[in-house]
Amino acid sequence: MDEKILQLLRESAPAFLSGEEISRRLKVSRTAVWKRMRRLRTLGYEIKASTRSGYRLIRSPDLLTPSEIKPNLKTKCLGKTIHHFHTLDSTNSKAYQLALNGAEEGEVVIAESQEKGRGRLGRHWSSPPFLNLYLSAILRPKILPHQASLITLMAAVATADTIQKFSGLLPLIKWPNDILLRDRKVAGLLNEIHSEMDRIHFVILGIGVNLNMDGKMFPKEIRAVATSLKIEMGQAISRKVFLQSLLQELEKWYTIFMKEGSAFILKAWRDRAHVKGRRVKVTSFGETVVGMAIDVDSDGALILETTGGKRKRVVAGDVEYKEKVKS
Ligand code: BTN
Repeated sequence: MDEKILQLLRESAPAFLSGEEISRRLKVSRTAVWKRMRRLRTLGYEIKASTRSGYRLIRSPDLLTPSEIKPNLKTKCLGKTIHHFHTLDSTNSKAYQLALNGAEEGEVVIAESQEKGRGRLGRHWSSPPFLNLYLSAILRPKILPHQASLITLMAAVATADTIQKFSGLLPLIKWPNDILLRDRKVAGLLNEIHSEMDRIHFVILGIGVNLNMDGKMFPKEIRAVATSLKIEMGQAISRKVFLQSLLQELEKWYTIFMKEGSAFILKAWRDRAHVKGRRVKVTSFGETVVGMAIDVDSDGALILETTGGKRKRVVAGDVEYKEKVKS
């Protein structure tokens, strides 16, 4: 109902639309229209009311509702259906449930805040309301389960490119899928897969981007290593415009992956990660290894040369970059 009222107000803007006309078009009482206007104002919509002429939409808040996002969204599939929530435990959990119940490729879940935002390796993802982006997209790629990590690399490339286009700054991808600006984390990805031995049912692409957080808003334990686009750019970010660009970049890179295959994605990822020749400390399943990063392989695993000269393949874990080795 909120969405329908907003649509009517947008269509008639800048003119007023009478309460009577709205109640006739939506088949609800005048009181119901009035109550909805009151509710929309509490959500941040500025709506002018005149006893003679009706209602006029003056300004919309930076909400990530379908009616705010869809008008300028230039994608064919991704985000054509948006499930928007004021709060959720986790957009990934919601998207997973929707996918189990048959949601289609390209449907996305967005929340203004998350109560149990999930990060990699069982960590918490700080998700306060109306500041950042918390998004999960449902994909149903026709690839083999072992190739699923390439979808993660693809999404990291798309997120890094969106940040670069939006800010003009140069992000770095840190294996496997952290996005850094000035060595601090600005975005993270948590992708989950539902599959059989030889077939993927769906992938949930979970992306969190710190957009309008101020430094002191981050939990103490990550304050020194986290950042936001607002901090880096020195100005507030339109979450709506950022989300539209991100969905467009994701669709672009997903289409490239499906058409061109893994080599193209791996090259794009390598170009943005500059992992080769870096001295790294990797913590994986409780074990810490120091060595030099050689590359990522075609399944997205990190290949290291340890100090003893042995090659090691790391599939999951945390990486700390040491100084870059000069070649
Ligand atoms: C990480 O770097 O640890 C991954 C963070 C992923 C956070 C996003 S926010 C949207 C989606 N829903 C979640 O619960 N997590 C991901």
